[in-house]
This record gives sequence, structure tokens and C-alpha cells, in this order.
Amino acid sequence: MILLVNGPNLNLLGEREPAVYGRTTLREIEDMVRQACAGWNVQVTAFQSNHEGQLIDFIQEHRRAARGIIVNPGGLTHTSVALHDCLKAVDLPAIEVHLSNVHAREEFRRMSVVAPACRGQISGLGPRGYLLAAEWLCAETARPVALVEGEAARPPRAGKRAARRGR
Ligand code: DQA
Repeated sequence: MILLVNGPNLNLLGEREPAVYGRTTLREIEDMVRQACAGWNVQVTAFQSNHEGQLIDFIQEHRRAARGIIVNPGGLTHTSVALHDCLKAVDLPAIEVHLSNVHAREEFRRMSVVAPACRGQISGLGPRGYLLAAEWLCAETARPVALVEGEAARPPRAGKRAARRGR
């Protein structure tokens, strides 16, 4: 399961500054990510809040069940040490996503407090940025699959005997 976390004002996507953020609603983005992850047999738990503490509570609560996090922290990107600390604390691979290109806008948007706690950042690619993040997370955290049909999946370090057999 991966967490899809959206911060302040992203609940208004679709009507909020459409010239900057487009017309796609948050619900539509969540459905797109769910569909993309379903292809990997990965579930998505989505959450949006306008409150920093609620975002942190949500991430903490789901930290053991989740394999990764897609997070658009909205305006908290540029201010929230607490969200940065939370991502570090739960130690899950996280991707920071922004619909707009934060580097091509006001100066204050160029700095992300959250980015150093993430594996990467996708900015300016619109809703598709969430899909790219989902694809990366699913691939990166995919469970090992059996190479031989009918054989049970092995953990990555399968031991010397398996290595000698060329697996
Ligand atoms: C945003 C960019 C932020 O600077 C802004 O505060 C947002 C949205 C984006 O998705 O482009 O709320 O995260």
C-alpha cells in the first residue's frame, strides 16, 4: 500500500487558480493514481488536509502498513520542518510532487524544506507527475517475484546455492 498525501488547498483543485494548477480535481488525481497502482497490485490510501498536524498524524498512523509515500505538501513545502521530520522518522521512500513548476514561480517557492527528506521531487508536470511518482514507487518497492514459474517468491538474498544455480 502506498500513501497519497495532499496538503493545504489541494482540496480545491479544479477551481483553484486553474491557469496554474489546471482543471483536474483532487478526486480525479486520486482515481488516476489508484488505477495506475492497481496495475502493480498495489493499493493506495489517499488523504488530504489543510492542517499540518493531521498530515503528520496520518503518515505516522500508516507508517507500518505503507511501502512508500507520494506527497504534495502544498504551501507546507516551503515551511514545514515538522513534515520533513515526520518523513525522516517513518523512513519510507517518499516522492514530493508539485503540479506547477515551483522553480519557475515566486522566489519563495524555490526552496523546499521537505525535499531533503524525500527520494526525489517532480515539479511542473501537472497531474501526470503523481502518476510518474506512483510508477517509480511501485517499481522501486516491488516485492521479489519468482523467476521460475510455479516456484515461491524468494527474498533478494537467496543464498549461495541459488546464486550458483544462476538465479
Ligand atoms: C504546489 C506548489 C506550492 O508552492 C503551493 O503552495 C501549492 C501547490 C503545487 O502542486 O504546484 O499549494 O504544491
